[in-house]
Amino acid sequence: MELPYAEPYKIKMVESINRSTREQRLKWIKEANYNLFNLSSDKVFIDLLTDSGTGSMSDKQWGEIMVGDESYAGSSSFLKLKKTVKKITGFTYFLPTHQGRAAENVLFSTLVKEGDVVPGNSHFDTTKGHIEFRKATAIDCTIDEAFDTSIIHDFKGNVDIQKLKKVFETYPLEKIPFVILTITCNSSGGQPVSIENVREVSKICKKYKTPLIFDSARFAENAYFIKKREKGYENKTIKEIVKEVFSYGDGMTMSAKKDGLVNMGGFIALNSEKIFKQATVYTIMFEGFITYGGMNGRDMGALAQGLDEATEFDYLESRVEQVAYLGKKLVEYGVPVQQPIGGHAVFLDANKFVPTIPREEYRAQALAIEIYVVGGIRGVEIGTVLADRDPVTRENRYPDLELVRLAIPRRTYTHNHMEYIAAVLEKIYDTRKEAKSGFEIIDEAPIMRHFTAKFRKI
Ligand code: F0G
Repeated sequence: MELPYAEPYKIKMVESINRSTREQRLKWIKEANYNLFNLSSDKVFIDLLTDSGTGSMSDKQWGEIMVGDESYAGSSSFLKLKKTVKKITGFTYFLPTHQGRAAENVLFSTLVKEGDVVPGNSHFDTTKGHIEFRKATAIDCTIDEAFDTSIIHDFKGNVDIQKLKKVFETYPLEKIPFVILTITCNSSGGQPVSIENVREVSKICKKYKTPLIFDSARFAENAYFIKKREKGYENKTIKEIVKEVFSYGDGMTMSAKKDGLVNMGGFIALNSEKIFKQATVYTIMFEGFITYGGMNGRDMGALAQGLDEATEFDYLESRVEQVAYLGKKLVEYGVPVQQPIGGHAVFLDANKFVPTIPREEYRAQALAIEIYVVGGIRGVEIGTVLADRDPVTRENRYPDLELVRLAIPRRTYTHNHMEYIAAVLEKIYDTRKEAKSGFEIIDEAPIMRHFTAKFRKI
């Protein structure tokens, strides 16, 4: 018999979280205008709003906090991080930033011009935002299978090569500054990209002499899926796979709040000295001097250690399999989820879960609120509320998928927490047919409305 996996760590410090009653939660969520972003965290029992910056650091990372070098220029913490980034990614040039979107801001200021197009696989919101802010267009080339939650496909983050080729055949080359590949693909459900697909994308980029940039927030989780699912990679180490994946590209942006295992931080890493030199100007303007770029010395030390830990198999196995465990339980109950289960989150399919709630009444938002009311669990709507209105017609944009994301923070919750979450969802699923109405929006911002919108119960 094969032994089950278990967490390759034990707990040294704990943080209390608050239980509450259904009555309390009903009152609190009403006071928060039915927007989960408006809840203070003490009113949440299990917080699955995001896996970004919400994980636990190790004792060795906390050790790095104590020995951090806060020199303005050339700190030893910076040099340690630079060396680790080179060791793990292979990229020579390195610029720290305060988080992922800051890396996008710096790099895209260097590379993206008005009228450009940037092909990729379901660009993350901030990535798309930084492209559109520069009056350029993000073109989604993800495979069609990604948009049907019931199709099982090992690599639903993959780029459709025909769609990508079409972009290169349609637009003049000087309008395509780079191709961006998000590993894993958050917007399609934390779905991985295969190394074969990376190679094919890279081949096209080389043919057209266009850089390939990775949005690498969850690059280690992506490597875990390659090891588990791709032929020829089962005996390679995670670090070998990571190195090979990055070897097919020209650079990366990183939100270190995910697979860097830190609470804040990010960076850019590149092969090109020319692009690096141009980007340093924007780093200094927006982030700080090039040897700290918005990060404390101590945080750069903790990140160096975090990158090393996040690319170890035992850690990744417990991390990804914990998410899969929750997902499998939900599938057993019949709860509709994006399949296969992604690396960092379980995505509930609200179109199938609560079809009885009209779409115009924000059914995914209604489901997210119900999960909070029943169990004190905070997820996030990824559906019509998030999609905002059409900028011209001001009508709601209805995306293909109405999802509720339950993102699992790294090394933070236990198996019992997963059991609890599954039990709450089973309970809601059993009574789903009683759900007939949702919400209307009574106040909203012109863009990014999901953070601050106020809702009324219908
Ligand atoms: N790229 C991806 C794939 C992301 O998931 C995120 C953040 C970013 C870039 C931006 O990084 O937050 O450090 O500025 N995702 C978070 C989430 C916010 O909840 O999924 P950041």
